[in-house]
Amino acid sequence: MNQTQTLTATPEGLARAAQILSGQGLVAFPTETVYGLGGDARSDLAVARIFDAKGRPRFNPLIVHVPDLTAARTYAVFDARAEAVAAAFWPGPLTLVLPLRQDSGLSPLVTADLESVAIRIPAHPVAQALLRSFGGPLAAPSANPSGRVSPTRAVHVLEGLAGRIDAVLDGGACAVGVESTILGLIGEPALLRPGGIAVERLEAMLGPLPTGGDAKKPNAPGQLASHYAPGAPVRLNAETALPGEVRLGFGAGASDLNLSPSGNLIEAAANLFHLLREADHLAQPGQRIAIAPIPEQGLGRAINDRLRRAAAPRP
Ligand code: TXA
Ligand code: MG
Repeated sequence: MNQTQTLTATPEGLARAAQILSGQGLVAFPTETVYGLGGDARSDLAVARIFDAKGRPRFNPLIVHVPDLTAARTYAVFDARAEAVAAAFWPGPLTLVLPLRQDSGLSPLVTADLESVAIRIPAHPVAQALLRSFGGPLAAPSANPSGRVSPTRAVHVLEGLAGRIDAVLDGGACAVGVESTILGLIGEPALLRPGGIAVERLEAMLGPLPTGGDAKKPNAPGQLASHYAPGAPVRLNAETALPGEVRLGFGAGASDLNLSPSGNLIEAAANLFHLLREADHLAQPGQRIAIAPIPEQGLGRAINDRLRRAAAPRP
C-alpha cells in the first residue's frame, strides 16, 4: 500500500472513493457514530484486507452498511418485528442482527461464516452519498487499529491507519461519537451492544431487552446459529498429508486444495471459509482434512484462531 489519500465529499471525491471500492480497495468514511473502514462486503479480498489493515487477531463478524431498506432486504430476512424496528429507527445509529439470506452474495468473512448478518443504514449524508455512488454493500468496522479507540475525525483515522488503507473520505466530526446500538433479532430480541440509540427507546417498542448478549462473543448459546464446522475431522500443522487425508495446503508443495500457493496470508484469509467447505465435500466418510502450518503473524493469527476452533473436539 502506498500513501493514504484524503478525499472530500465532492462529486469527484465520491467518484474516486467508489472507484477504489470497486477495485477491492479500502476507504474510511464518516458515519454519524464513528468513522468506518469500508470495503466491498461481497469481495473476499476486500474484507480480508479490512482485517489485515486493522490487525484484528480474529475474524469477528462485521457490520454491513446499506443506503436503504430495499437494499437491506436483499441481504437479510426481515420479519414483521424487524420491519417495525427498521421503520422506527433507520436511518440511524442502530444495527440489526438478522437471519442471513441464502442468496445474499456477501463474503463469508463478513459474517464470520455465521447464518446471521449485522446490518445498518447510516444517516450521515456523506455515508449515504458514498453508498449510492458505490452502489453496493460496505463492510465497515470502526476505522482504527484493533484495540484502539474508535475515530470520530478523518485525522484520527490517519493517525492509526495511514499507509494501511487507500483513502479516507473527510466528512468532518461524527455527531454521535459512540458506535451503533446492536439489537439481535434472531429469536427473542437481545441487546448485543449498547450504543448511539438509547436502550429505553428500543424497550418502549419491544419490551425489556435481555442484556446478557455480548456482541464480542457471538457464539454465546442461544444467541446465534453456530459457526460452520467441517463434518470431517481436522488435523492442524500438517507438514504432509497421511493416507486417507484431504490436504489443504498453504504455499508451495503438493495439496488437494491450496489457501494460497504463493503463501500470501491476505489471499489465504479470503479463501479460508470457501476452501474449508470444499475440503469437507472432498473428504470421503472416515477421511480427515490435513491443514498445512500457517505462520502466526499478520492475518495468520486470525486464520489459526479460526482453524483451532474448526479442529476443537465437537460437543
Ligand atoms: O457505529 C458502528 O456500528 C460502527 C460504524 C462504522 O458503523 N461500526 C462498528 O463495527 O462498530 P465493528 O466491526 O467495530 O463492530 C461490529 C460488532 C462486533 O462487536 C460484532 O461482534 C457485532 O457487531 N456483530 C457483527 N455481526 C454480528 C452477528 N452476526 N451476530 C452478532 N454480532 C455481530
Ligand atoms: Mg470497533
